[in-house]
Amino acid sequence: MDVSQRWFYNEFQQSGVDFEDTARVEAYDHNQRSSSEEAERELVERLGISAGHIVIDLGAGTGTFAIQASKVGARVHAVDVSPTMLAYAQKKVHAMNAQNIQFHHAGFLSYEHQGEPADFIVTKAAFHHLPDFWKTVALLRMASMLKTGGILYLRDVVFSFNPSEYHSCIDAWIARMAKPSGEGFTASDYEMHIREEYSTFSWILEGMITRAGLEIVQAHYPAPESAEYFCRKSKNL
Ligand SMILES: C[S@@+](CC[C@H](N)C(=O)[O-])C[C@H]1O[C@@H](n2cnc3c(N)ncnc32)[C@H](O)[C@@H]1O
Repeated sequence: MDVSQRWFYNEFQQSGVDFEDTARVEAYDHNQRSSSEEAERELVERLGISAGHIVIDLGAGTGTFAIQASKVGARVHAVDVSPTMLAYAQKKVHAMNAQNIQFHHAGFLSYEHQGEPADFIVTKAAFHHLPDFWKTVALLRMASMLKTGGILYLRDVVFSFNPSEYHSCIDAWIARMAKPSGEGFTASDYEMHIREEYSTFSWILEGMITRAGLEIVQAHYPAPESAEYFCRKSKNL
């Protein structure tokens, strides 16, 4: 991929939340409860990740999932555009004595996977940092990194409500989720998400996934603003 093209998207420039801000990064594990150690251990189990599997975590953040995947013996590539996140995750890996994790300062549009294709690609709460056109480019790239039969697990803020109800649905989401400062993500965090980040509708994202050559084997919508997808690369693309 020729990222030197003048029209190429700069994924290293933070959109919305600034994950190069140390205070933000240090508060992240406390705020993001869906990425707790226990939740990530459960996800490793649900995916069936085990010893020897090659796993790429795109937008790896503070590394909690990467650490849990490495604990079952997987070889993990933890990829993130934020040097602050990577440094924080590396410290955590060191403190927990986790093995077999390689860190990469790169992103969906720039990570070049070397060696054997991946059994699993996992991306959680990160895909919304790309505008839709670039999400499609990223999905094509992820499909090319997977082995045939390999799985992409994608979880994010994704909207499955009726588009004409966007106003009340977004207000209701923020009212339901927002926490007081110091106790989790605040109303202004959610407002910034909508204003400056690129969460999209489920029907758009699902169209992109299938056009990238991946089959959606399971889709869950735990809430009208959240979705998870298990996608398989069924044939060599
Ligand atoms: C909300 S955090 C999610 C972290 C982790 N995946 C989790 O589930 O807790 C989003 C992460 O995506 C990273 N990110 C933003 N844009 C990215 C891109 N284009 N490629 C890879 N990572 C990106 C941010 O630096 C941040 O660490």
